[in-house]
Amino acid sequence: MRPRLKPKPQADAPVVASLDEFARAKLAELERAHLRRSLVDTTRSESLWATRDGRRLLSFSCNDYLNLAQHPAVKDAAIAAIRRHGVGAGASRLVTGNHPLLGELEARLARLKETEAACVFGSGYLANTGIIPALVGGEDLVLVDELAHACLWAGARLARGTVLAFRHNDVGHAETLLAEHRGRHRHVLIATEGVFSMDGDLAPLDELGTLAARFDAWLMSDDAHGLGVIGNGRGSTFATGEKAGVALQMGTLSKAIGSYGAYLCASRPVIDLIHNRARTLIYSTGLPAALAAAAIAALDLIEREPAYAARPLAKAQAFTQMAGLPPAQSPIVPVMIGSAEAALKASRLLLEEGFLAVAIRPPTVREGTARLRLSFSALHPDVEIARLADIVRTRILAR
Ligand SMILES: Cc1ncc(COP(=O)(O)O)c(C=O)c1O
Repeated sequence: MRPRLKPKPQADAPVVASLDEFARAKLAELERAHLRRSLVDTTRSESLWATRDGRRLLSFSCNDYLNLAQHPAVKDAAIAAIRRHGVGAGASRLVTGNHPLLGELEARLARLKETEAACVFGSGYLANTGIIPALVGGEDLVLVDELAHACLWAGARLARGTVLAFRHNDVGHAETLLAEHRGRHRHVLIATEGVFSMDGDLAPLDELGTLAARFDAWLMSDDAHGLGVIGNGRGSTFATGEKAGVALQMGTLSKAIGSYGAYLCASRPVIDLIHNRARTLIYSTGLPAALAAAAIAALDLIEREPAYAARPLAKAQAFTQMAGLPPAQSPIVPVMIGSAEAALKASRLLLEEGFLAVAIRPPTVREGTARLRLSFSALHPDVEIARLADIVRTRILAR
């Protein structure tokens, strides 16, 4: 007898009705609060311009600060690596995914950051959620700047120790917390961003480094937005010209470097421990060789042309001066709006003027602090920056 086939489910029939109901209710809640997000097809075939719904828009929302994602030398390096080595890494780095280009990239990053060693991860999120739990555990304390990126928070929570927030860039508050709690914990890690991704300000890494040394705490900075554009391209650890006491220099290759992936630069024993303990390194496929090749080509360009690396910050500063905003400290400039609804409206206004400036809303930023987060790149034309500043000053901030 032929086995009886189960009736095929209709493509649009809910598999689990309660699950779909839950998702619809949550989405409706987000919609009511102007917080629903959706994916918009965006092509960036020219580095400054983004095409959306058939419209070519000058983008102030990309982190490609040095326009290297479209640089011929960077693209050629990636293409050549794909031709030779293929696309995917095929396995975790601890199995067969440890292509020699990753080691070459690590040596370059360690040299740039003046550390003994480096370890490349698949992405920034993977790096932060791997590094912190590899170094601290249940008996330990993690102090996190309250505005630090979601993946630093995720890493801190995964470590399963005590996690406390210190007020944004407030070294005095971090000191008070250390004085009160240090004695109860075996180890303490202080996590912050070098350049704050949604606010554009720099962390006081020098002071935090001194504080960390006083309390035998380990300072970790996430310099996703500093590498390539701050401190002569060497990142925010070098913002003052001197190297700050940051034991754990983490960053990404996906912003100014124009590629993808992330790194930790630290001492040799720390990196050896990361190889043995960071679960997001051990249990995740290695970064493809082509992305490492692209990052090496980008680092070559940055080292050769430090004046070019200084341009995004100079453009951001020209903008803040013309718009009547506090001077930019990095290529990121927040234009504070307040409500999510008003931020969406401001973003639409700029869209009508041919600018892409995506509204940043909670939970990425705090309730009541929705904003336009503008990012400036080396190649943004000055006349367009002036036009944007004029619109922001007269039609967005003057309201
Ligand atoms: C400060 C910061 N850290 C980490 C990340 C995550 O990096 P990735 O995109 O490589 O996962 C980002 C943004 O993407 C970031 O802005």
